[in-house]
Amino acid sequence: MAEATKSAKLSIDGNDFDLPILSPSVGPDVIDIRKLYSQAGVFTYDPGFTSTASCDSTITFIDGNKGELLHRGYPIDQLADKSHYLEVCYLLLYGELPSAAQAEDFESRVTNHTMLHEQMQFLFRGFRRDAHPMAIMVGVVGALSAFYHDSTDINDPWQREVASVRMIAKMPTIAAMAYKYTIGQPFVYPRNDIDYASNFLRMCFAVPAEDYEVNPILSRAMDRIFTLHADHEQNASTSTVRLASSSGANPFACIAAGIACLWGPAHGGANQACLEMLREIGTVDRIPEFIARAKDKNDDFRLMGFGHRVYKNFDPRAKVLKQSADEVLELLGVEDNPTLQVAKELEKQALADPYFADKKLFPNVDFYSGIILEAMGFPTSMFTPIFAVSRTVGWISQWKEMIVDPQLKIGRPRQLYTGAVQRDYVDIEKR
Ligand code: SDX
Repeated sequence: MAEATKSAKLSIDGNDFDLPILSPSVGPDVIDIRKLYSQAGVFTYDPGFTSTASCDSTITFIDGNKGELLHRGYPIDQLADKSHYLEVCYLLLYGELPSAAQAEDFESRVTNHTMLHEQMQFLFRGFRRDAHPMAIMVGVVGALSAFYHDSTDINDPWQREVASVRMIAKMPTIAAMAYKYTIGQPFVYPRNDIDYASNFLRMCFAVPAEDYEVNPILSRAMDRIFTLHADHEQNASTSTVRLASSSGANPFACIAAGIACLWGPAHGGANQACLEMLREIGTVDRIPEFIARAKDKNDDFRLMGFGHRVYKNFDPRAKVLKQSADEVLELLGVEDNPTLQVAKELEKQALADPYFADKKLFPNVDFYSGIILEAMGFPTSMFTPIFAVSRTVGWISQWKEMIVDPQLKIGRPRQLYTGAVQRDYVDIEKR
């Protein structure tokens, strides 16, 4: 825990209060207001938490102005270039890059937990075939606690470890099963002789009727998408997982809550919404019409894939994904993909428009991820499930960090009450 290095003076009605200021290893100082209500009898007010640090963490740091993202101190572009998803999972979970032996052991543990309890396949049958895969994932992940009782005791370090590995291992299997179920194809079991990203692609696209070979460029692009979405500080879904976990709920239920939050179009659902928007724009000549709508105060239309609560510069993940988009589309011979042409021209026109420049609205991670996933053959309904597969390690890492925090207490925000003051009940005859 950071120590107070100085203090802030707050004066209310002539009374002065000294509030400790805590200094981070990097980033803004924070004013410690934990004793504010007991000392001064006032709350702070910050809907959306734009100026509020909800916890202290050692996992991920974002500098929105510089467009920097560090995982345990390592820049995301170096990890995307030199590392791979399971190694980044190890880094996020345990704080250091693994040795060769640690990496081999971790990958073996994940590989040997990828299968789902055979009884769970019947859960899928309860859904309509046209159910959104995210609806299925929320239900099935929440149901994991009904099948894996031996890893739900959050006070047992060994059970926490087993639950963590199980979720990282099983999420691709569940997402692939959700996809197969919605297209009426049989489930494809995971294999232990291929890597994590290849396994996911094979579970999604293989059919029993023929052999399936994963293209190494596509599995590398899939792994990079997993790496780039792994964790992102205290975003909405991670904060949901932390708040749910603070009540002592089992980890599977908390991750299901994170999946539900991620589904929203303002958050992880933006990759699906972005591609649907690009398709609606359809051709380059219609871009000005949509940019005008995004700028129109009376139109609630927003450019999906643009803007970010924290990044007021280019999202560093979008930069890396832009390279991958070019590689994948060139490999697939669809570099003249009309959706990609619209995306590239939209980016160019938006970045040249003072409205977006002044409001620091740049393409975010969702802008290019959808284009790559579409090129790889995924329907838009699978974009957010893929985001959820990747972010599971971020949710789990933040959950593990919180659970062992000696300051852990149930999250219970207060409010600015502006409703009716006390009044007496009126019988219906007198209303
Ligand atoms: C993710 O938090 C995370 O870290 C999330 C994430 C992660 O890895 O977990 O990075 C993943 O969720 C990325 C964001 C994906 N969402 C989208 O692409 C949806 C489109 N973006 C917007 O909904 C919006 O930019 C948000 C929600 C992302 C951020 O909104 P903010 O920071 O709350 O900003 P705001 O809504 O207060 O907008 C500020 C101004 C407003 O104009 P004014 O009222 O000041 O005149 O910018 C405008 C907004 O109208 N604005 C946009 C815009 N985003 C903001 N105008 C047009 N198009 C947009 N996309």
